[in-house]
Amino acid sequence: MSALNKEKLKEKFNEHPVLWPALKKGQEVQSRLKYRYFYKWPGHSKRASIREINLEFASACNLRCKFCALDHNKPKQNMSLLVLRRFLDQWLVDFRFHHVEKINLYNGGETLLHPKRIEMLRIIKEYRQIALKHDLKFPKISMLTNGMLLRPTLADTILNEELVDEIGFSLDGGTPEEFEDLRVNAKWAPFYKNVGHLATRIREEKLPVRLYGITIVPEPKPLTKAWMHPEFQQLSMLFDHHELRRLHDWGGEIELDDKPKAQKSRGCDLLLRQLVLLPNGDVTVCCNDLNSKGVVGNLWEKSLWEIYNSAERRKYLEFIDSGRKDELELCKDCMSF
Ligand SMILES: C[S@@+](CC[C@H](N)C(=O)[O-])C[C@H]1O[C@@H](n2cnc3c(N)ncnc32)[C@H](O)[C@@H]1O
Ligand code: SF4
Repeated sequence: MSALNKEKLKEKFNEHPVLWPALKKGQEVQSRLKYRYFYKWPGHSKRASIREINLEFASACNLRCKFCALDHNKPKQNMSLLVLRRFLDQWLVDFRFHHVEKINLYNGGETLLHPKRIEMLRIIKEYRQIALKHDLKFPKISMLTNGMLLRPTLADTILNEELVDEIGFSLDGGTPEEFEDLRVNAKWAPFYKNVGHLATRIREEKLPVRLYGITIVPEPKPLTKAWMHPEFQQLSMLFDHHELRRLHDWGGEIELDDKPKAQKSRGCDLLLRQLVLLPNGDVTVCCNDLNSKGVVGNLWEKSLWEIYNSAERRKYLEFIDSGRKDELELCKDCMSF
């Protein structure tokens, strides 16, 4: 199932008492089949299951969102231009990663805090051009940001130089007051102005950049937009997609009052389809790992394929498939599927 279809299904059936569990069961069956196809059945060494690679440009963040599991005391690191080039070189030469559909510019931290963010984006564009020359389909470049640093001049550079295909904004709460309460250090007025400028340019100039928003809706508010502040609704209209979600607990990293039960699922699509490259070259298994618990290798020591196929990563896949999720520190309380 494509990520977009999954988003749509989630939007439609999230919290439905019967259909939601049924969807999850179907997803589990699909994931277990994919596991066999990509890791067990003949020919598996010629194919990779990865469809998304997340790059964490910066491990630090300018905000202190109340619900976020990012450990703000860990060392602050920025990805070097060399780490980025090493990753892109590996992507280029290894055909098994040419089915990667998206490079996501986020994990923990805030991408736009990187001091050389524009240079980093230009390097990615350079590789896109190399790929095109060789008739290779380059992954879509998708950035998710808290928006506070995306002032009009920076937004204009990104748009004018066509550096990304998609930009997502996190606008939690549903009202300016809730937004500032949840997203500590963020201010609604500049956020609204930054998003408004970018979105208006995209719309008026018909630029080929997809926009989306993510809004955490705290209980007991419903997962709808009707009750939201007019400025939230206005921004929502400018997005191509707006995901409304409940809080999750980052695999047990944060305390929630009403914690939904972790799924006993024997499949994990995220594990199959994702890899995350951290600023120092470490690679972790998925974007639920904001604090490097699931590191399975380093790009300076092994190739991307070796990390993908490493015993460390295989252990995650095998344990999930055989119902031993509880034994994996990173996964045991995870609510994703
Ligand atoms: C970890 S942030 C990193 C990207 C960037 N700093 C941002 O805030 O957009 C990625 C996304 O996770 C969401 N998020 C953080 N904590 C969450 C939680 N406990 N439950 C659900 N979503 C959460 C954020 O709102 C954001 O949309
Ligand atoms: S959710 Fe994003 S903006 Fe908020 S603290 Fe976490 S990483 Fe920073």
